[in-house]
Amino acid sequence: MAKITYIEADGTEHVVDVATGKTVMEGARDHNIAGILAECGGACACATCHAYIHHEWFDKLSPANPVEEDMLEFAVDTDPSRSRLTCQITVTDMLDGLIVQLPES
Ligand code: FES
Repeated sequence: MAKITYIEADGTEHVVDVATGKTVMEGARDHNIAGILAECGGACACATCHAYIHHEWFDKLSPANPVEEDMLEFAVDTDPSRSRLTCQITVTDMLDGLIVQLPES
């Protein structure tokens, strides 16, 4: 279990518990947090689960694999220093405290 803070583009914060083994995308979806569409359901085929990882956490995550890197090119307003596809980040206890900023679009 990890407590994850999702911050919407308008600044609204949601602090929720996400079970180990879920993805960061599923954590948002399961708590009805706006800003992550996840149209492909987590298959790394749509880029609509793009979000910005807080700089204190970005380097603590496993790096994006080549498929995610390719798909990130289809996301809007990416920032190489903090953009990830949240369906590709599996929650572990190590991610307790993770902060995720949701994009405007
Ligand atoms: Fe489609 Fe993540 S949900 S790429």
